[in-house]
Amino acid sequence: MKKIAILPGDGIGPEIIDEAVKVLKAMKLPLEMSSAPVGGAAYEASGHPLPEATLKLAQESDAILFGAVGDWKYDTLDRPLRPEQAILGLRKALGLFANFRPAICYEQLTHASSLKPELVAGLDILIIRELTGDIYFGQPRGRRTATDGHFPGAEEAYDTMRYSKPEIERIAHVAFQAAQKRNKRVTSVDKANVLETFQFWKDVVTEVGLQYPDVALDHMYVDNAAMQLVKEPKRFDVVVTGNMFGDILSDEASMLTGSIGMLPSASLNSQNQGLYEPSHGSAPDIAGKGIANPLATILSAAMMLRFSLGQESAAAQIEAAVQKVLAQGLRTADIHSAGTTKVSTVEMGDAVVAAL
Ligand code: IPM
Ligand code: MG
Repeated sequence: MKKIAILPGDGIGPEIIDEAVKVLKAMKLPLEMSSAPVGGAAYEASGHPLPEATLKLAQESDAILFGAVGDWKYDTLDRPLRPEQAILGLRKALGLFANFRPAICYEQLTHASSLKPELVAGLDILIIRELTGDIYFGQPRGRRTATDGHFPGAEEAYDTMRYSKPEIERIAHVAFQAAQKRNKRVTSVDKANVLETFQFWKDVVTEVGLQYPDVALDHMYVDNAAMQLVKEPKRFDVVVTGNMFGDILSDEASMLTGSIGMLPSASLNSQNQGLYEPSHGSAPDIAGKGIANPLATILSAAMMLRFSLGQESAAAQIEAAVQKVLAQGLRTADIHSAGTTKVSTVEMGDAVVAAL
């Protein structure tokens, strides 16, 4: 019996998680699923976005299926109490350093992309984002009175961008090994022309790359990578980058595929314990309307079966069912277009179950 922590969270989180749980239950696998509040929902219930009981459940599980957290109404809370701290806290506490964000353009959705169909048809990029370092977690950070700079004596805020060699080495190994199972190309994205941290990043990735002579490595500055992603996205195979650049580029890449509502993600630690969540956020503006796309979460559940639970065939079965409902012309509002059938969140989940 494998243990799964189900953390629905805020906004559309509970709606999309319900559909993924429905699909998992339909698979009749030996899974023990337990839910706990997280994010704003947990703050409302117990005054903290990542209550101890939720963290403990996550730590004791083989995998975590996570919805989404956040709502504008919490933006004025002290930072440690904001919903986002729940996902950052889980990443840190569980050491989930390797974030996989595939951007795949399904054949049926080629026309849903904001780019020309010929640019995105057949697109299959894997963004590997380092998830527990960089300016997201670097200390020191805070507010103080400036003693130097352009305005000594003024109030200022600061964060610290930093990476240690082992942190870069381990994510580089993840990227090269992922590329070996794909098209054997890695693009490392940095800002080595300006930042010390990312010159070091580039040097370390280059050194690790020597151990993978079968994989072609190239380097790209992050501004150019942002441009190339919309100019010629199919030039990429595996993209590896730091936490902040990966945050930005993965949102950009998601739009190539038609909708961020289609993209799953996996965040793994060195024991292959993982947190699985859609790449999109909590979308409070559409919460409760029954129009959210549950496919990213359903596909995240498939990644969970594959990466953390050793259930490759069950994962492939779910992915095939998703392909089938797309082929049937079923679309939630975010991917709907003329000639297809608009369905609700629940109807989409039911259709995937029926297609299994
Ligand atoms: C993501 C999100 C998070 C991040 C937020 C919610 C903290 O944007 O997973 O990409 O910045 O990492
Ligand atoms: Mg993001």
